[in-house]
Amino acid sequence: MSTNKVTLTQFIIEQQRGLPDASGTFTILLNNIVTACKQISHKVNRGQLIDVLGSAESENVQGEVQKKLDIITNDIMVNALNWTGHLAGMASEEIDGLIPIPPEYPKGKYLALFDPLDGSSNIDINLAVGTIFSILRCREGIEPDIEDFLRKGAEQVCAGFVLYGPSTMMVLTTGHGVNGFTLDQDIGEFILTHANMKIPEETSEFAINMSNQRFWEPPVQRYIDECLQGKEGIRGKDFNMRWVASLVADVYRILTRGGVFLYPLDNKDPKKPAKLRIMYEANPMAFIIEQAGGACSTGRERVLDIKPSGIHQRIPLILGSKNEVERIVSYHVE
Ligand code: AHG
Ligand code: MN
Ligand code: MN
Repeated sequence: MSTNKVTLTQFIIEQQRGLPDASGTFTILLNNIVTACKQISHKVNRGQLIDVLGSAESENVQGEVQKKLDIITNDIMVNALNWTGHLAGMASEEIDGLIPIPPEYPKGKYLALFDPLDGSSNIDINLAVGTIFSILRCREGIEPDIEDFLRKGAEQVCAGFVLYGPSTMMVLTTGHGVNGFTLDQDIGEFILTHANMKIPEETSEFAINMSNQRFWEPPVQRYIDECLQGKEGIRGKDFNMRWVASLVADVYRILTRGGVFLYPLDNKDPKKPAKLRIMYEANPMAFIIEQAGGACSTGRERVLDIKPSGIHQRIPLILGSKNEVERIVSYHVE
């Protein structure tokens, strides 16, 4: 058994060393995100012992009822990142406008966007939740405006998520593959445990909220129908279904054993045809999934190619094993 444990910090420093314009600021920024996520992990783990569960009885900008932990985790992220000098600005799923850097702190060359608590409907039932983040480069020394944030996902320099499950894990990409790190609670460090994660191309597992079935568009109806027909149908094999209702957990499963995840367009509520947010959920997950050899689309276009039109814009999301995503896209084309 090897005793040589690679920490996340060591991994990032060694990866950055190979890059021509690396100045070390990115490593520090990432370390601040790690610190925030360790604090969140601790709060999530303590749960009702420290009175953080339940509703905050407020609504966020998306009109969703906030959990206490939605607010606490947002504050943890903001407070861990706003003083570093490496960010020019931030945006969060929980906050209406952009989050400026307080005037007493210097501004840096990156933008951070985050979903501080993903899957928060699962928090009170003690199921896995997570934090999702995305880092963009920004012109230095400016006060960023909305246009500085509304950039294609393909321009992300880093994306990651932390899954607060039986183990706390961070999954990360800087555009050189995907690596997974497990939090060693005893020493307080994320340790590289899942190097170079790759999604299997073939799969027979899908994830979708079936209760919305009657509201889907025909291509998605067709795809799921064909999966459900199993061995007797045109797919010639039986499919399994999973739906955690935490994107972080569903994506982590797909990274480890393959599968496809769909939160497609639906006509349940005309004001809300899609659920997941491009800046905080779709883009970072798309970057990770593609870097792990998978694919990510709205059904009509590659997620990473979309020019966002709003900081809280929602889009349909289909991601996972390449062959399945390509099949679903082809049904949309037809
Ligand atoms: P959030 O908790 O950040 O609002 O995100 C919830 C998302 C996502 O994690 C999950 O895939 C999806 O909502 C679950 O939707 P349903 O409640 O429709 O199953
Ligand atoms: Mn979310
Ligand atoms: Mn959230």
